[in-house]
Amino acid sequence: MAKALITSALPYINGVKHLGNFAGSLLPADVHARYRRQISDETLFICATDEHGTPAELAAAEADIDVFDYCSRQHEAQKDIYRRLHLSFDHFGRSSCSRNHALTQHFFHRLDDRGFIEERTIQQVYSPVDGRFLPDRYIVGTCPHCGFGRARGDQCESCTRTLDPIDLVAARSALSGSAALEIRPTRHLFLRQSALVNELEQWLGSRKGWPHLVTSIARKWLSEGLNDRCITRDLSWGVPVPKPGYEGKVFYVWFDAPIAYIAATQEWADVDPERRDWRAWWWKATDVEYIQFLGKDNVPFHAVSFPCTLIGSGEPWKTVDVIKGVNWLTYEGGKFSTSQKRGVFLDRALDLLPADYWRWWLAANAPESSDTDFNFERFAADVNNDLADNFGNLVNRTLQFLAARYDGVIPHGGVPGEAEGRLIVQLDKKLGALRAHHGACALRKAAHEVRSIWSLANAYLAAETPWTAFNKDPVRASVVVRTGINLVALAATVAAPFIPESAGRVLDALGASLMELSWPSARTALARVKAGERINAPPPLFAKLTPEWVDARKRQFAGDLAM
Ligand code: 2FM
Ligand code: ZN
Repeated sequence: MAKALITSALPYINGVKHLGNFAGSLLPADVHARYRRQISDETLFICATDEHGTPAELAAAEADIDVFDYCSRQHEAQKDIYRRLHLSFDHFGRSSCSRNHALTQHFFHRLDDRGFIEERTIQQVYSPVDGRFLPDRYIVGTCPHCGFGRARGDQCESCTRTLDPIDLVAARSALSGSAALEIRPTRHLFLRQSALVNELEQWLGSRKGWPHLVTSIARKWLSEGLNDRCITRDLSWGVPVPKPGYEGKVFYVWFDAPIAYIAATQEWADVDPERRDWRAWWWKATDVEYIQFLGKDNVPFHAVSFPCTLIGSGEPWKTVDVIKGVNWLTYEGGKFSTSQKRGVFLDRALDLLPADYWRWWLAANAPESSDTDFNFERFAADVNNDLADNFGNLVNRTLQFLAARYDGVIPHGGVPGEAEGRLIVQLDKKLGALRAHHGACALRKAAHEVRSIWSLANAYLAAETPWTAFNKDPVRASVVVRTGINLVALAATVAAPFIPESAGRVLDALGASLMELSWPSARTALARVKAGERINAPPPLFAKLTPEWVDARKRQFAGDLAM
């Protein structure tokens, strides 16, 4: 049995995430985890909130509450939303947990002992008006590379380049707005990534199957020369730096956040230490396949910085096998933006429609080879075609016909004929392709294959017309209805990673619970639900989204677009 460790990029704690965050890492990771469980791989799916650093401090200051309380509340709020989105985490932790404090300090000591930490005095922005140093996001200004006017001190949201606050043009304090900033010396610790270049090159060369997007970003970083990275900050909220003279300083959030993948796994194991062993996933874990899901802005930290931490420690930590990085989901032609509150946020999305609608559209249109633009017309068109007309219709017409003509009991009699033989051949081909796409974490192609299995099932019923055969050739009608019911079961089985709630309702109705799902060949799949069983048709699965619904949504969200 294969072992799959799956992590999604850790969502920042500050506020509810938007559809772009969901589509970029949380959803693809969940679809993959669900698929792995379906094929009986031993699967561990880990995520957490990313709580340290300036975003949390700034948001807490804005809400006028203590940063720890702020994070606790936000963590619970995000956790609840992810439950409602059916994200099947084995553990959803917090980067601020004590396990992560200990591990982060452990990595620091290892790196320090091995000569990879260097102390430097650097010039930092100091704000006399605020009475403090202003790291990262406490400074805003114009990006020196692309001219974006609201670039932050650590990264430009527009061109994705990482920045040093000192690079910003027309910089000002994000706290007070004061432009009266001074440059003062302050001592910080640097991770000597330059000393790890050869090991990193070698490591990168040994990774297989990464999307082109990810490899090219990683290669670009290496070819431009690996800069040593400042891993400490003049902040109070974070993991304290365990070194004399560094009181009042903490580690940079991007140093401790990826370490939280491991810490969250430790927390998962802490719940049941007799049966759960975090080391089996992270320590000398050569039998584990580790896949990270993330958006393209996160690639440098996962392909370069975090591996430097792990490799530099000289300990046998598990490093990532495949980084599945994706492009952006855009919103009505522009960017989703948390800071500018632009786009559809997950709480509002769930107020509008159940999770499966969003899950399906975002998976079927995953921004894999290029950016994907979300708009309500496209969303409604795909939901209506795929979910209501294709999958929903297959389920409804089959189960309603069974209810109307057979009193809900699957008929006996007859043997599969040529049409069923052809169907099995076609289905096996599609199941093979689906497996390959899931294996390559190609979400969009996998969704396409699921859609084509639904279409094939509908086409079979349309061609074999059990409604006509019912009077003319009842034995043949029995075969077709039995096959049709099993096609419904198969359609729900392949849909389950994408739309788990709807698929679960169908499988429950058919007496094939989600937990018992196996990954069938077409011949076994079509013999799963047996003659003589009574099936209660579930109510219609999906409502069609009308042009009026689309117009209303566009009006509802128009305010966001104007921003
Ligand atoms: O970009 C983000 O949303 C970050 N919070 C991702 C962190 S991923 C990991 F390394 F923790
Ligand atoms: Zn820029």
